[in-house]
Amino acid sequence: MADVTYLSQIPLFEELRGEHIIVRPYREVDAVDHYAAIDESREHCRPWLPWPDYYHSIEDSRDYIARCRARWIVREDLSVGIFDVENGRFLGGSGLHPRNWDARIFEIGYWLRSSAEGHGYMSETVKLLTDYAFADLHANRVYIRCDARNTRSAAVAQRLGFVREALLRNDALANDGTVRDTLVFSLTPDDPRWPS
Ligand SMILES: CC(C)(COP(=O)(O)OP(=O)(O)OC[C@H]1O[C@@H](n2cnc3c(N)ncnc32)[C@H](O)[C@@H]1OP(=O)(O)O)[C@@H](O)C(=O)NCCC(=O)NCCS
Repeated sequence: MADVTYLSQIPLFEELRGEHIIVRPYREVDAVDHYAAIDESREHCRPWLPWPDYYHSIEDSRDYIARCRARWIVREDLSVGIFDVENGRFLGGSGLHPRNWDARIFEIGYWLRSSAEGHGYMSETVKLLTDYAFADLHANRVYIRCDARNTRSAAVAQRLGFVREALLRNDALANDGTVRDTLVFSLTPDDPRWPS
């Protein structure tokens, strides 16, 4: 990537296309589907993520998407929606979260609507985003963190060959108020990726 003076000038994708999914920045028209997906998924997200319960109407999704678009423009955060490649159905959200642009360190976070679990959509999403981070953003480190009890989230990282590098004990408060341990998984450019 050529040196750029302003983060806003870093070229970014319009969409990343996989075999089953498309990953792209949010558009205003996504608000209705975004809210419906959250509304469907409160129970399955609640143990792991605080924010679904902050959403009470489509207006909340509209506001979220407006903020995502603003942060995308200045490259502060690269949140994306995940869509079925066949029919455009909204499946969930993810994103490359730049933790340090100078050092090119990115965290990936994710959630799927409950009816989209179990199809490999998130593993495909993380692959696409990670390949993009290394190839186009010259990432030095891509990492994933999760509550050590969140076996489905940890399984995504493990399935893709992310290196389990830490178990941070009593690292944060979980949504239910209990103190949680946090697993940290990462890849660097020289690590082998995508075990079959
Ligand atoms: C974490 C979360 C995204 C994982 O979703 P997931 O559906 O288990 O993950 P994937 O989309 O990669 O799918 C993997 C599953 O699909 C199956 N699968 C089917 N086809 C597949 C394919 N081509 N590739 C990979 N997996 C495939 C896998 O066997 C696996 O199912 P299993 O767990 O029953 O063995 C989801 O559980 C979630 O949204 N949880 C709530 C929010 C949350 O915890 N977010 C993370 C916070 S750190």
